[in-house]
Order: sequence, then structure tokens, then C-alpha cells
Amino acid sequence: MKLQFFGHACFSVTVNQKILLFDPFVTYNPLAAQISVDAMEADYILISHGHQDHVADAVAVAKRTGATVICAFELMGWFNAQGVDNVHPMNVGGSKAFDFGAVKCVVAHHSSVLPDGTYGANPMGFLITSEHGNFYYSGDTALTLDMQLIPRWSNLNFAVLPIGDNFTMGAADAAVAAQFVQTKTVVGVHYDTFGYITINKDDAKNTFAAKGIELLLPDIGQSIEIS
Ligand code: NI
Ligand code: MN
Repeated sequence: MKLQFFGHACFSVTVNQKILLFDPFVTYNPLAAQISVDAMEADYILISHGHQDHVADAVAVAKRTGATVICAFELMGWFNAQGVDNVHPMNVGGSKAFDFGAVKCVVAHHSSVLPDGTYGANPMGFLITSEHGNFYYSGDTALTLDMQLIPRWSNLNFAVLPIGDNFTMGAADAAVAAQFVQTKTVVGVHYDTFGYITINKDDAKNTFAAKGIELLLPDIGQSIEIS
């Protein structure tokens, strides 16, 4: 599967020739100045929770591309009010088959409110399964024992996990999360964007390597192939 990183926790994965864009946040990310929101492609836009650093560019990309927004039920009204009608509402514990594969919404321990103060629903992570491979994006979350359920549902090719600490897991907890979900390949996100979450990338890679797990940290804009 091809994964392209757009900075912070924004990335896309191409599954069955469909582009799944996660947590669009580029406009307010100074590290992602070279990324053009107007050029971002998506067939589906998946929103883990309502925080600004996960939804900032979602409406613009959804309107231009016509992509289906997959999000918590309570976020649907916020999107509808801004002219985004193609929304598929879900909630934690639910799974649904789409044309690329299936989405299962899983527990994330975090908080959520939309940028204008609208109720942001419970945050969630996503398990994506398809005939071409499976991956897990935890969203913003603490390390939680619930992650041990993931291998009951799917064998992962990789996981996308926050490693920036302070607001989410840091590298040490994320490496344990990788063990819980039983993957050897992790794409690290949610680091360096703000002063609160600046990390030492070599230390983070070593923390994962000590557990036999590879931590991939693609450059902003870079595409990588993960098998
Ligand atoms: Ni958040
Ligand atoms: Mn966040």
C-alpha cells in the first residue's frame, strides 16, 4: 500500500485504487508550507476527532473532491452546516464495508471538540481491512489495553501511531502499542508540529528498534510503499 505523509497526523493511504485521506491539517501547519491543499486528492476523508489539528482542511478538500467523509455521527451536522453533504457517520465499535475494503471504528482515549466549540463526539481510531492489506490508525490517544483487541480482528501490515508525547502517546508508549496490535512496522505521526511535541527522531527510532519494530518517519510530502 502507498502511504503519503502531509505533516502532523495528516496522511493518505491508497487502498484498492481509492485514496483514503486522514485528518487533513495543512493550512495551519508551518512545517507543511510546501503542501498544496488545492492539490490534495481523496476519495474518502476519515476524521479521528474534532480537534483543529485534525479537521482544519477537511471541508475544503471534501467540497473540491466530493470525497465521502467518514466520521463520528455527531460530526456530521458540523460538516453538513458547511455544505459537505457526502458524510458517512459511524461510531466506536462499528464496522462498515466500502468499495475499497472495510472500516472499523475503535477506541481512542483522548478528548474532542470542534474548532468553533461544537461538541466533537468521542474520538476514535480506525482499522482498515482490504484484500490488499490491513492497517490501524490509532488517532490521538493514550496507550490503552483496548489496543490488544486489534489482532483479534486483523493481521496488520502496519500501524500509524502518534509519537509526540504531551497530548498523546510518546515513542515509549507507542512502541508498546505496536506490540499490543502486533505489528513490526509503524509510521510515526503527531510530532514536531508544535513546541509541545518536539521529539528527537533518532531516540524515537531507537526506542522502537529495541523492541524489534521499525519506525518509519517519512518526510512531509514523501510517499512510501509499505507491504
Ligand atoms: Ni486531538
Ligand atoms: Mn491532535
